[in-house]
Amino acid sequence: MKLLTPYSTNGLDLANRIVMAPMTRLRSHGDGSPTTDVAEYYRQRAGAGLIVTEGIWPHSSGQSEAWVPGLATDAHAEAWSRVADAVHAEGGRIAAQIMHGGRKGHPRARIDGSVPAGPSAVPDGDVLHLIDGSKAAWPSPEAMSIERIEETVGQYAASARLAIAAGFDAVELHGANSYLIHQFLADNTNQREDRYGGSIAGRMRFALEVVDAVAAEIGAERTAIRLSPGNPQFSMVERDPAPLYRALVTELDRRGLLYLHLTDHDDYAALADLRPRFGGTVIANVGENRAPTTAAAAERALSDGHADLVSFGRSFIANPDLVDRIRDGLPLAPIREDGLYGRTAHGYTDYPRAGVLSACGDR
Ligand SMILES: Cc1cc2nc3c(=O)[nH]c(=O)nc-3n(C[C@H](O)[C@H](O)[C@H](O)COP(=O)(O)O)c2cc1C
Repeated sequence: MKLLTPYSTNGLDLANRIVMAPMTRLRSHGDGSPTTDVAEYYRQRAGAGLIVTEGIWPHSSGQSEAWVPGLATDAHAEAWSRVADAVHAEGGRIAAQIMHGGRKGHPRARIDGSVPAGPSAVPDGDVLHLIDGSKAAWPSPEAMSIERIEETVGQYAASARLAIAAGFDAVELHGANSYLIHQFLADNTNQREDRYGGSIAGRMRFALEVVDAVAAEIGAERTAIRLSPGNPQFSMVERDPAPLYRALVTELDRRGLLYLHLTDHDDYAALADLRPRFGGTVIANVGENRAPTTAAAAERALSDGHADLVSFGRSFIANPDLVDRIRDGLPLAPIREDGLYGRTAHGYTDYPRAGVLSACGDR
C-alpha cells in the first residue's frame, strides 16, 4: 500500500503517508494549557506519519469554545513542549494547528470574557460549549476594524513562533471549516467593502497576510494551511468557490509552503481542481460530509495523484493504533459519542490498541 510508504518533504521525514487530522477534544486546563492527558492521547497515536493537533487559539480573543487550548504564552508553550516531546519520543512528527475562532466565540466560553469579532457582524447559526458546561448559541460578533485585523495577523505569527519554540515540527493554519480565515473567504461571513472584502483579491487578503506573517516568523518550509473549499457545513456559504480557491492556491503555490491540507466535498471536487495548481505537498481529507475516511478511499486519493498524504480523523479517535490496523487489515473500532468532547480521559485515552482489552471492558 502506498499509504504505508515513507514520505519526506522540507526536511520532515514521515514514516508513512497517514496523517492524523486535527480534532478538537476540549481537554485543556482553564488557562488554555493542554493537560497531561493530551500528551498521552497524542503519544498513543504517534504511529501516524504526521499528527496535526486539534485547533489551538493564538490569542484569547480567538478562543471559540470553552476548554479549547491556546498557544499564546510561555506557559502554554511549556505545556505543549511536553506534548511534542511525547510524540517525538515515539518517533512521530507533530504540527500545531492554529485556529482563531473569529465570529465563533462567547464571553462565557472564553478565559478573557471578550466578545467575538469576525470580518462582519454576522452571527453563526450553531451552538457552542460554555465554561459552565451548558451550551448556547454563538452571539452576534463585532466587525473587526483594520487595526484589529492587523493585530490579529501579528497574533498568528507570535503563536507560530511559540509553537516552534515548543518543539512542534510545523504549524498548520486553520483556514477551513468556518474559522476566522475561512470567514474572510466566504460570501456570507465577509460582507466588507474595504480592502479585506468585495473582490476575490480582497477576500483572500487576510489568508495571505497571515501566511506571510507566519512564514516570515518560522519559515515557509514549516508553514502549512488547511482549506475546505466550498464546504457548506457550519453555516458557511460559498456560492462560486472555484475562482476564489484557484486564485488563492496559485498564490500559496508561489510561497513554498510545507503543505496544503485540502478537504473534498460533494459540491466541489476541490482536490481534482486544485491539486494541479499546487506544486508542493498536498494532504487530502476525503471523509468530510461522509462516513469516516477509509484506507481504500485514502489509497485511491494517492493513486489518483490527488494527494501525497491523507488525513484520517474519526478513525484515529477510536483506533490509536490505526496505522498498524491498516497494515494488518484489522477491523476498525467505531467511535463513541460518549467522551468525544469532555474533560476526562474517558473516551479520550482509553480506546485500546487491537487485541488489548479496554479499560472499560465493554467495547
Ligand atoms: C471531534 C472532531 C473535532 C474536529 N475538530 C477539528 C479541528 O479542530 N480543526 C479542523 O481543521 N478540523 C476538525 N475536525 C475535522 C477533521 O479534521 C476531519 O476533517 C473530519 O473528521 C473528516 O475526516 P474523517 O472522515 O476521517 O473523520 C474535527 C472533526 C471531529 C470529528
